[in-house]
Amino acid sequence: MTPEPANPTHARDREGDAAFAPSDQNRDRTGVFSGTPRDAWSPEAWRERPGAHQFDYDDAASLERAVAKLRTLPPLVTSWEIERLKSELSEAQRGERFLLQGGDCAETLAECRPETITNKLKILLQMSLVLVHGGQKPVVRVGRFAGQYAKPRSSPTETRDHGQGPITLPSYFGDLVNAAPFDAESRRPEPGMLVHAYQHAALTINFIRSLARGGFADLHHPEQWDLSFFHHADLPPSRKADYQRMMERLLDGLRFMEALGDKRIDELTQVEFFTSHEALNLYYESAQTRTVPRRHGHYLLTTHLPWIGERTRALDGPHVAFFRGVRNPVGVKVGPGMTGEEAVRLAEALNPENEPGKLVFITRMGAGKVEERLPPLLEAVRASGRLVLWVSDPMHGNGMTTASGIKTRSFDDIAAELERTFAAHKAAGTVMGGVHFELTGEDVTECVGGAAGVTEDGLHVNYASPCDPRLNYQQALELAFRTAGWLRDGRSGGGGFGLG
Ligand code: PEP
Ligand code: CO
Repeated sequence: MTPEPANPTHARDREGDAAFAPSDQNRDRTGVFSGTPRDAWSPEAWRERPGAHQFDYDDAASLERAVAKLRTLPPLVTSWEIERLKSELSEAQRGERFLLQGGDCAETLAECRPETITNKLKILLQMSLVLVHGGQKPVVRVGRFAGQYAKPRSSPTETRDHGQGPITLPSYFGDLVNAAPFDAESRRPEPGMLVHAYQHAALTINFIRSLARGGFADLHHPEQWDLSFFHHADLPPSRKADYQRMMERLLDGLRFMEALGDKRIDELTQVEFFTSHEALNLYYESAQTRTVPRRHGHYLLTTHLPWIGERTRALDGPHVAFFRGVRNPVGVKVGPGMTGEEAVRLAEALNPENEPGKLVFITRMGAGKVEERLPPLLEAVRASGRLVLWVSDPMHGNGMTTASGIKTRSFDDIAAELERTFAAHKAAGTVMGGVHFELTGEDVTECVGGAAGVTEDGLHVNYASPCDPRLNYQQALELAFRTAGWLRDGRSGGGGFGLG
């Protein structure tokens, strides 16, 4: 374990820390904070808990140099943006807004290119317009971008045999940690990547901010929407008619607003995008965690919405220990193994003040398990009075491998999990507040099915993900149409272009 470096900001941060320390009652019940004095939280205190990462840096001095450098660099986001997002998430929690979160499974430094970023923004924006139309409420748009560079793996090592006997190397943990090629030099966790990846996150967010401000003013032009997929697809006629109707009303609404000079069209097409990523590498996250003038507590300033992955959400683990001390809203992936009691304890640990908009549970059960596993969690959390924004990630419980060994997901399973999640919330009387997708604006062939017609045989045509399979442009748009339908079914009345 690397010793904690001196951090001159700690002493003056005490007041803010104490304001968000968990109550003694929580500490006793959960056991999460046993051994941690009330005011002991600091951005680096997680280092005292073993097993934070599946990988090891072998050069402690260069690790501390990289961390020290990151501490001096400007933040990627600001506390006021974070507070604005928290307030929008609290509206989503009350059912007054809907969260759309999406992007790559793993961003790569090589894909930090203008076309890729523009296409990702465009599909997210188009999906959000479809969702605004279906749900008649505003949508908060959050990308899995500008920092989605660290990946947990099922095994810390990978073994391959290229004919000269098996070779075992560290797994690829994303460009924040090491590099994908299977050789010892590439796979060695390299501390310098912390700074290098931070710089690419900065380039990405800089471009996103400019694009968002400039607006995608021509989005109401039909040629901006690639709808060829459902015209030719083998879809039930009623569904085709439904998509067609939604599309026409949406474009009509946008044109009408433009013709009237309605300023709300700017609100719809020049919009804020918030950033998010799995906050796996705590060296990276803690180095950019700071106090800011005139606000209490610490802000994690690499991203607006960090989330804790399914593999690192242990109650007594370093990630929960770290995230209980930051003011950002925090997401947690919730898989089928989670119990109601654990969900409540996590909520107590990560949101001791029960602040609205602070905690996002991103459920990823799998289409086959969601009907059995989700309702007890919804019930337990509701009974506890803990405030949670429930979001559905229909991707990560639905992975499968084809006979030829390709990782994929089926559009139908993804849609089924979403539909069942909407139904579970309806039955429980809870709010289904958003969706979380792995997607890209490119024409990739990674997930099978949907009107886009990707088949198992066609997966090799353009399989570009270094990690999990993503929805392509057409599949993502189609899922937005399906989701809009469920949102519409869940509300009464309707019509028009609701801005909430
Ligand atoms: C992911 O979101 O890419 C991921 C690894 O998810 P989970 O933690 O839910 O498995
Ligand atoms: Co993934």
